[in-house]
Amino acid sequence: MAVAPVICIDGPSGSGKGTLCQMLALELGWHLLDSGALYRLVGMAADKRKLDFDDEAAVAALAADLDVAFLPGQQGEPSRVMLDGVDVSGELRTETTGMLASRVAVLPAVREALLQRQRDFAQLPGLVADGRDMGTVVFPDAPLKVFLTASAEERARRRFMQLKEKGDSVNLAALLEEIRARDKRDSERQHAPLKAADDALLIDSSDLGIQDVFERVMAQAKARFVAS
Ligand code: DC
Repeated sequence: MAVAPVICIDGPSGSGKGTLCQMLALELGWHLLDSGALYRLVGMAADKRKLDFDDEAAVAALAADLDVAFLPGQQGEPSRVMLDGVDVSGELRTETTGMLASRVAVLPAVREALLQRQRDFAQLPGLVADGRDMGTVVFPDAPLKVFLTASAEERARRRFMQLKEKGDSVNLAALLEEIRARDKRDSERQHAPLKAADDALLIDSSDLGIQDVFERVMAQAKARFVAS
């Protein structure tokens, strides 16, 4: 069976990774893996089942058996995420769920349990994989890896605008503090820390629009995957 090509897009949240991955998957007609959603689902499910987050084996067993489905959205709508047959798309994106996700993401047995599930997304015609360790751990042989960053200040500013648009009252200085704390935890954790693969293309999106980033990555994708 032919091996599906994979493009890995890693980086911290707020770098524009999620939007970039959606644009790439749409343009190429490839599948999309939102690996952060898997960690969020495990965190949510563990919380709903009232598991002890220090019980690594129990949380990993839950991750291995998780009943999830990613359903394509109706025309123009975002895709829906189902947990145990229930639509949890809204709850998945909240800050509370993000915190639960980061607590389960530090557990090596949970990361191990999700490994094969993530690799199963690599189906023809290809996969765009969005995460923190796509290029370093999950798909180390991927022919195109991108590490997308932006300064903490710019990421805080983007998050601030997003939350303000939703009508939430937020404080920019507090957001910046949170982002710095999360960066530190993500890059210093022992298992699969956030870092660029040696062969990743580094892009700093602080002063770049998402369209510029998209065009830069598409040029690389065309050079590697599209027969001329
Ligand atoms: O990208 P996100 O905000 O949806 O990620 C949620 C959490 O999961 C975040 O704390 C980082 C973690 N994560 C991870 O450790 N490895 C991944 N491949 C994706 C996300």
